[in-house]
This record gives sequence, C-alpha cells and structure tokens, in this order.
Amino acid sequence: MNYEDTLGKIMYDEETIAKRVAELGAQISADYERDYPGEELLCITILKGGAVFASDLLRRLTVDARIDFMAVSSYGSSTKSSGVVRINKDLDTDIEGKNVLIVEDIIDSGLTLHYLIETLWYRGPKSIKICTFLNKPARRRVDLPVDYIGFDIENRFIVGYGLDYDEKYRNLPYITCLDEE
Ligand code: IMP
Ligand code: MG
Repeated sequence: MNYEDTLGKIMYDEETIAKRVAELGAQISADYERDYPGEELLCITILKGGAVFASDLLRRLTVDARIDFMAVSSYGSSTKSSGVVRINKDLDTDIEGKNVLIVEDIIDSGLTLHYLIETLWYRGPKSIKICTFLNKPARRRVDLPVDYIGFDIENRFIVGYGLDYDEKYRNLPYITCLDEE
C-alpha cells in the first residue's frame, strides 16, 4: 500500500503556510515592539510537533527572539488528554521576568497547555502569550486565551508540517488529514 493512500486532500500547501507564517511573524513582532520595546522574547516550543512551525516562525520575527524547548506527555491514554501533564524535558532557560511566547502546532482540547501555563506562571515570567499554527475551537474543553492563530480548522485528524499520526507524516511540507473513509 502506498502510504499516501491513507491521506485526504491537501488543506494548506507550502506556499499558503509560508504566507501565513510570515503574517504571524510580522504581527507578533509589531505587537511586542509596541508592548515591550527593546525586550527579548523567549519562544517556548513544545516538542515534537511544534518544532517545524517554530523554526519557520522564528525566522520571521524581527524582535530580539530566543528559543527553548519542552517535551511533555499527558497521563492517560494517548488519544484522551487527561489534563495532567508530565514534563519529560524542561527548559534550559530561567523564565523569571521574561516575555514568553508558547509556540504550538495545534490546540485541541486545550488541556495540555492549560496545565502547562499554570506551571510556567509559578516561575514568575513577565508575560505569557500563546501562538498556535492550527486551532480546533470545537474541541476546546477549557477556557484558554489563544493570542495568535494560524488557521481555525474543523474537527479532522491533521498530519504534516510537524504533526504526526503515530510518529509518521511529520516530514510532509503541507497540511493534510487522515482519510476517514
Ligand atoms: P490538547 O491538550 O488536547 O490540546 O492536545 C494537543 C496536542 O495533541 C497537540 O499538541 C498535538 O500533539 C496533539 N494533537 C491534537 N490534535 C491533533 C491532530 O489533529 N493531529 C495530530 N496531533 C494532534
Ligand atoms: Mg504538540
């Protein structure tokens, strides 16, 4: 079986993704220049999915931007988020007094980030904002303020551009979904 057979149509191609990432980078840079002039911006990316988007976004930021990574896993089964998160890899950076921008691939129930943000606030950052490339608003189970969104999408299982199904398809340069037929 050709592994492309299990995928649906391309939802966002490379050109569309690049254009939206550039727009987000410009908007984020303008906002931080206005609200926190001259201050550094620490982007925190959640591994692994967020890494592809983050590396593109970082190159579109014109402020003094840094990057650090975290790896988390949620307790419970892999398909059902329990809202309790274990930190498998913590930040190298002390975030006290810093402006933090969390860079995510996709927000689904919102439980992972909801928990993570609570943990990060305890470390005394100056600000925390959230940027996600994809957002599934219909699936949200907690109130989560999302500051920057690439695209709002319907409830499909998305792969490509860093997003995986069982670790597969992260390498696709476009966004598509699993074919549910
Ligand atoms: P949440 O806690 O339900 O918001 O879970 C978000 C995480 O689940 C994301 O960071 C992804 O790693 C994963 N996820 C949620 N929806 C999808 C999807 O459609 N495709 C691939 N991964 C997804
Ligand atoms: Mg993720």
